[in-house]
Amino acid sequence: MPSMSTILKGLTLASILSLATASPFAAPPRPSLECKSAAATPTGAAPTIPTSGNTPDLPSTTLSLVYVAVGRGTQNYTCLAAGANSTATGAIATLFDATSLAYANISAVHAIPPIAVNQAVPSGSLDSSSGPLSVLGNHFFDASGTPTFNLSAANKILFAAKTGDVKAPATSSKGPAGTGAVDWLSLTAKPAPYVSDGVSLVYRVETAGGVAPACTAAGTQTVQYAAEYWFYD
Ligand SMILES: *[C@@H]1O[C@H](CO)[C@@H](O)[C@H](O)[C@H]1NC(C)=O
Ligand SMILES: *[C@@H]1O[C@H](CO)[C@@H](O)[C@H](O)[C@H]1NC(C)=O
Ligand SMILES: *[C@@H]1O[C@H](CO)[C@@H](O)[C@H](O)[C@H]1NC(C)=O
Ligand SMILES: *[C@@H]1O[C@H](CO)[C@@H](O)[C@H](O)[C@H]1NC(C)=O
Repeated sequence: MPSMSTILKGLTLASILSLATASPFAAPPRPSLECKSAAATPTGAAPTIPTSGNTPDLPSTTLSLVYVAVGRGTQNYTCLAAGANSTATGAIATLFDATSLAYANISAVHAIPPIAVNQAVPSGSLDSSSGPLSVLGNHFFDASGTPTFNLSAANKILFAAKTGDVKAPATSSKGPAGTGAVDWLSLTAKPAPYVSDGVSLVYRVETAGGVAPACTAAGTQTVQYAAEYWFYD
């Protein structure tokens, strides 16, 4: 049995600790965006990432799946002149959290990109026939051209570099422009000074649209696309 004085000492320490957390010098509360953190990883067997059918396919991983997202946005290109080849200049997309659905029914996730690519980029959740998918974050290229995946709803971020690139299956949705589906990719975390957090690898699969049309004039091209992004750590 602990003595009364041990209990009192314990209580005093507990009170001091709780005072310390309430101190005005404690870290400020996190902004509300960070509070609506993405749902925890579902239990059960992780879904299996689809194969492109290419030999070799994208490099495999022993890392753990942390999120599956549907990305919806544009692939951007520039043309120097009519008849020139387009040069990719980056992409911008909203990432919608499909993790729970991926664990429940991966076929239902695969059905989304070919439909979403023909619809406007949602301003809030993405409505799918399997229910709404909430915003997980966004994908963009930073000023130095680094593909960035900001999973802001989960407080995770990946600054990436491409490690694998294969053709999308011929059966993929060609998108509203009818130009074809962009390649399936793997990208891994860039070394320092980049500081990725909570995600170290992503695959872009099940692409729909995004391929540049032929250059008919000098200028920029913005091509609608959708894809699945599978995040690992
Ligand atoms: C466009 O790219 C193709 C394939 O790499 C190449 O054969 C062709 O010469 C290029 N055309 C121009 C105008 O650069
Ligand atoms: C791509 O194009 C979109 C739409 O025009 C634009 O908002 C975005 O900043 C562009 N991003 C890049 C990396 O070029
Ligand atoms: C899974 O999704 C597919 C495609 O949406 C659907 O046809 C199938 O009925 C779903 N299966 C279950 C068990 O809900
Ligand atoms: C990621 O998104 C959060 C929330 O919008 C923002 O505060 C943060 O600056 C973003 N990070 C980068 C590197 O853009």
